[in-house]
Amino acid sequence: MNKFLRLMVTMTLLFLLCAGCGRKPEDSQETASREKEEMAFDENLIVVGVSQVGAESDWRNAHTESIKAALTPEAGFYLVFEDAQQKQENQIKAVRSFILQEVDYIVLAPILESGWDAVLQEAKDAGIPVILLDRKVQVEDEDLYTCWIGADFEKEGEEAGRWLERYLRSQGRDEEEVNIVTLQGTVGASAQIGRTNGFASILAGNENWNMLEMVDADYTQAKGREAMEEMLKKYDDIDVLVSENDNMTFGAIDAMKAAGRTFGPGGDITVISFDAVSAAFDAMMAGEINADFECNPLHGPRLAEIIKELEAGNTVDRVQYMKEEYFDTSMDLARIQKTRAY
Ligand code: AHR
Repeated sequence: MNKFLRLMVTMTLLFLLCAGCGRKPEDSQETASREKEEMAFDENLIVVGVSQVGAESDWRNAHTESIKAALTPEAGFYLVFEDAQQKQENQIKAVRSFILQEVDYIVLAPILESGWDAVLQEAKDAGIPVILLDRKVQVEDEDLYTCWIGADFEKEGEEAGRWLERYLRSQGRDEEEVNIVTLQGTVGASAQIGRTNGFASILAGNENWNMLEMVDADYTQAKGREAMEEMLKKYDDIDVLVSENDNMTFGAIDAMKAAGRTFGPGGDITVISFDAVSAAFDAMMAGEINADFECNPLHGPRLAEIIKELEAGNTVDRVQYMKEEYFDTSMDLARIQKTRAY
């Protein structure tokens, strides 16, 4: 069976299994579009199964776009993309379906760090290389994956803490009691673990900083708003919000506005965010966010290069960090925003 038929047969079988066989396998429109695809399918294309976390944030959408733009037929790839809707069990199912489809590479952007040993062992046994994007995995056998591309989340958290030290010093507030709340990303995800630990390492050196509460808001705007609403009800003396991604920050901004609180440069609550997506630049320029620590989502081109290297029989670096910066309202944000792709 050729590569394309194998993919299609497996995908049809999986679809029928999921749908409970409640309808005819294919209607004539589906058959026609499949025939068209088959004609366009080139046996030489490298088949890549990508399991993405979800579509929880602007960052994630930019990440997905970058992958899709890089893994095109023109560049030599056939992409099978699965959105896990922020559920690890969906990612495990996706990886198993990629193994059944005998894809050439599996790309996994894992939701959480733990829980991957069994399914990655299945991929290894099937001889399919696994490339990790964005977050990491904790596995007994490090050889269960070929390499990882992503951000130094711990460094991002430390940089945020150091920025706060400098900011408070510049305001003559470095001796004052400072009350902090944190909106955490999905607890157990590398981005959450790194940012929380990185910031905590700087907090440990500042006895006058109090972490009032840290709440899991799952990287979404809706949960960011809800969690911030609750914290604003509980504490009337919040000085700093550390929000582990921009979308939770946008939700928190809505909550602070609704509660009549002032924030951002010139306000009562200093706002520190992560990702630095375009809408966060707008928020910084509107005086709603003080500083934003970049997480670069443009992994697609590097991913395509790595696969081509592996195809050529070359080895690749196991750990590949993306270049990242931070931005604050002392900078020429309008100019910088124009130079950015997300
Ligand atoms: O893992 C990266 C994080 O996941 C980004 O900071 C966040 O926006 C995304 O959902």
